[in-house]
Amino acid sequence: MSRTLSVAIKAAAIAFASLAASPGFAAEGASTPHKQDWTFSGPFGHFDQAQLQRGFKVYREVCAACHGMRLVSFRNLMEEGGPGFSEGQIRLLAAEYQIQDGPGEDGQMFERPGRPSDRWPSPFPNEQAARASNGGAYPPDFSVLAKARTYTRGFWLSLLDLVTQYQEHGVDYIHALLTGYDQPVPEGQQGQPGLHYNPYFPGGWIAMAKPINDGQVEYTDGTPATVDQYARDVSAFMMWAAEPHLETRKQTGFIVIIFLAVFAGLLYFTKKKVWSSVAH
Ligand code: HEC
Repeated sequence: MSRTLSVAIKAAAIAFASLAASPGFAAEGASTPHKQDWTFSGPFGHFDQAQLQRGFKVYREVCAACHGMRLVSFRNLMEEGGPGFSEGQIRLLAAEYQIQDGPGEDGQMFERPGRPSDRWPSPFPNEQAARASNGGAYPPDFSVLAKARTYTRGFWLSLLDLVTQYQEHGVDYIHALLTGYDQPVPEGQQGQPGLHYNPYFPGGWIAMAKPINDGQVEYTDGTPATVDQYARDVSAFMMWAAEPHLETRKQTGFIVIIFLAVFAGLLYFTKKKVWSSVAH
């Protein structure tokens, strides 16, 4: 028993140490994003279909001019647990884009209207072209960005997040970043040409100008057309793009925990029965 205990204590100590030493993404002086309420957090988390559709609209009409999403195909947008578009809608949507295909019989590449199986077309042919259009900065691909970004909340809060399994730091950060423009530049800081002040971006200066303003994207379901709401919706959409099977993962996880609990109970009684006739 004491051996098990000491192993457990050692494991906990290692977990503590790695947590304390984990490199922080947030740079010195950067503001810490606030935790937001997300429908997809927690063990019963699920995506809000209407929100994903709005987020997709924001992405398509605004962000897609600079940010690609190369791991997402048009047909993913009609999968269960996602924005839930119909096959007809996706066919029409894909056909609006010209996709490079080939080579044809003449050995040349050619363009044709998109199909549901095509990947989301990137706004730039390559990274160099993307940088050339953005003052040298590269607009990162959105496919997994919501999972690739995080921030540090200090040792104790990070520990709490570990215990509560809070995994929405990436979307909190994106929401904070999008709503974090228009803040007064702290005294003593110099605005550099081509960069914009945003306290949530590590270092405080980002090459992306404020991408979205109130009223820019039309919402037809009565949801307020504000930067805050756009930021929430597009972040949720990015979370779905990064983890389209989140709902299934959470449901399976829950069932597994129930199964393990029942199994542990059964094992306990089996052990009692097996050893009941042995003198000890
Ligand atoms: C005009 C081009 C342009 C548009 C439109 C645009 N972005 Fe960006 N975005 C950039 C560039 C360039 C960067 C890289 C900034 C840097 O590294 O300083 C960037 C970076 C980002 C980052 C990453 C920040 C980080 O931590 O590295 C996020 C998140 C982001 N954009 C979200 C969005 C969202 C959401 C939209 C749509 C509402 C959007 N962007 C629209 C150009 C754009």
